[in-house]
Amino acid sequence: MEQPRDQFGRPLTDLRISVTDRCNFRCTFCMPEDRAYEFLPRAEVLSYEELIRLARLFVSRGVEKIRITGGEPLLRRDLSHLIEGLAGIAGVDDLALTTNGLLLPQRAPALRDAGLDRVTVSLHSLEAATFARLTGGRGDLDGVLRGIEAAAAAGLTPVKINAVVLRGQNEHEIEALARRFRGDDYVLRFIEYMDVGTLNDWDPESVVSAREIVDRIDRVLPLEPAPRRSPNDTALRYRYRDGGGEVGVIASISQPFCGDCSRARLSAEGRLYTCLFSAIGHDLKTPLREGADDAQLIERIDQIWGTRRDRYSEERADRLSQGRPGVAPRVEMFRIGG
Ligand code: GTP
Ligand code: 5AD
Ligand code: SF4
Ligand code: SF4
Repeated sequence: MEQPRDQFGRPLTDLRISVTDRCNFRCTFCMPEDRAYEFLPRAEVLSYEELIRLARLFVSRGVEKIRITGGEPLLRRDLSHLIEGLAGIAGVDDLALTTNGLLLPQRAPALRDAGLDRVTVSLHSLEAATFARLTGGRGDLDGVLRGIEAAAAAGLTPVKINAVVLRGQNEHEIEALARRFRGDDYVLRFIEYMDVGTLNDWDPESVVSAREIVDRIDRVLPLEPAPRRSPNDTALRYRYRDGGGEVGVIASISQPFCGDCSRARLSAEGRLYTCLFSAIGHDLKTPLREGADDAQLIERIDQIWGTRRDRYSEERADRLSQGRPGVAPRVEMFRIGG
């Protein structure tokens, strides 16, 4: 059976699996701490067996890259069991995890042994007070830095570091972050602040553009552009001219990359989202738990992907240029892991 293409001809090559909607941080741009959150009851969360079965079906439809996300995925018990199951699926070329890093010192070696290829750690500041403020008073900078070191020591390299840049909050740290995470063990990526979810009071004025970020780094550490590794990559790449490795920028606001977007997102409760900015996800858990066989689940996946027309970030760019605000409702970031 031919693999599915969406309405714009895009294949389904990447699957992001959120394993929990809970998080031990409260980042201001994702889960503002002044809100109360209702988390999924245990029974609604897909088991590892269910996730591995679904992942195998997705791989049969073209998926080659799998990323585990949350909330904070390391809060889920025995995550290594899931990693082991996913690593054992023939056809998975790249198995990665996005985490806030705090629990990595205890977990990194077991994750590596289970078959994880690499990790991405979110780190938005190197100043203890700023880091704590951005993570809603729950983040511990030294703990996260230890987590990053533990991941590198366990061989989960290169460790990617994600830094969301917010105007007036951590933009003065761009150069310091770049200096700190040079070299072969790390790839730092700066992320333009996005209007994900509905809780973060996003406004275009708080975005620091990729152009500005690259110019600031280039002034102190000269850069040259490098090609995207694959057309559906999120990040624009730059090399340090002195051979000190590379740095990336994820320019979803100023240079949207929907054209080659081949990512699907599965929430912890088994809903499939065809865009980071979707309002609703397609329910896969009900058929899964009601005994659908593989062929029926594949038919459902193909049908969802086959009707996909998402290009939110490109549409946002059009709207912003006309001075019109964004559209809601949208799923919250912590439910689909970015
Ligand atoms: P790599 O495979 O290592 O390149 O990871 P990644 O960049 O695909 O994933 P990661 O979880 O590190 O996400 C980095 C940033 O890009 C986060 O802010 C994500 O929300 C954002 N991002 C990832 N995929 C998409 C996407 O399809 N659309 C948009 N607009 N942003 C995305
Ligand atoms: N804009 C950009 N990136 C965000 N992230 C969380 N919220 C936002 C936002 N509003 C980042 C996380 C993590 C990645 C998956 O997305 O910090 O690194
Ligand atoms: Fe948690 Fe990541 Fe959201 Fe921060 S951005 S609150 S670490 S899920
Ligand atoms: Fe893909 Fe939606 Fe992001 Fe565009 S906005 S790149 S369609 S996830």
